[in-house]
Amino acid sequence: MPVTTISWSDEKIRIIDQTQLPLNLVYFDIADVPTLCEAIVKLRVRGAPAIGIAAAFGVYLGIKETPEYLEKEKLFTVINTVVLTLKKTRPTAVNLAWALDQMLETAQNNSDKSPLEIKSALLVKALQMYEDDREINRRLAEHGASLIPQNAQIITHCNTGALATVDYGTALGSIFLAHSKGKKVHVWVDETRPLLQGARLNMWELQNEGVDCTLICDNTAAFVMQRNKIDLCIVGADRIAANGDTANKIGTFSLAVIAKYHNVPFYIAAPMSSFDQSLASGAEIPIEERSGDEVVQGFGQRIAPENSHVYSPAFDVTPNELITAIITDKGIIKPPFNQNILFAFSRI
Ligand code: MRU
Repeated sequence: MPVTTISWSDEKIRIIDQTQLPLNLVYFDIADVPTLCEAIVKLRVRGAPAIGIAAAFGVYLGIKETPEYLEKEKLFTVINTVVLTLKKTRPTAVNLAWALDQMLETAQNNSDKSPLEIKSALLVKALQMYEDDREINRRLAEHGASLIPQNAQIITHCNTGALATVDYGTALGSIFLAHSKGKKVHVWVDETRPLLQGARLNMWELQNEGVDCTLICDNTAAFVMQRNKIDLCIVGADRIAANGDTANKIGTFSLAVIAKYHNVPFYIAAPMSSFDQSLASGAEIPIEERSGDEVVQGFGQRIAPENSHVYSPAFDVTPNELITAIITDKGIIKPPFNQNILFAFSRI
């Protein structure tokens, strides 16, 4: 069953409302910036590449109704405000800021044109980024699949499939490709507390693709590694610093620590747009904190007393020394990361 996470039609962004999965496959149309901001904050659309592309269309949504006679300076004020508003929705995934900066650059490069032409250039750019993301994931998956052996036992954390991108996915995309090339794989799926992207979304996607998979509680991963021969862990990324330190869904760091203890290779799969070379290390990555309600009554049932104090960072940072390699659309980056990440960028 093809999964169309995001599409653009009839001047609207159409997304799968991921808060409703796996129970209901519901599409949600977004025609304005406030609705898009709500959808990103509530994780109706989620995953670093997917929110970047949705935000790119959001810039167009934010200016498409501006009057033809609006002075250019005012048009640019609107564009800047929309970009800033969208950037604030989720601070960790750098793909969001990256996509918005691309849109801003496109507007600036067309600043000598008419407002109508600027609007049209922005839509063309968003559509191009949409198509590029599909291609990027396919290329990344080729590299990722090459690291997956026959009869592989794999652990993953958080959703990195078609639902987290325009199509196909990154870490999960690599698994899908290995599977479609005839490799037998079995995936241990961390449920990914508190919002259960593993249980709700990975299990749904893996089952749709016919990939053998088993759901585990996050705290079961160490025991699984101790008792089973796990060949690799593969996860996504929300932001990778210049030294390879990687922010990804909360719980990724613990998985990397136990993988190191058991000598299991730990791979990050992410497009080049997930790198933030302005940050020397992961210590500088801004980490989103989410409402404690998602922990104590995330899916309706209250599980802790009223007024319980909760700390809920949405992401953590895995230090580079725990990472075996970073799989990108430009190839596989191995340590030493500082040097090899720079080298990968020099070839773009
Ligand atoms: O809070 P989420 O569900 O948006 O977090 C998503 C992740 O942490 C993913 O692993 C990451 O964005 C990579 S998606 C290809």
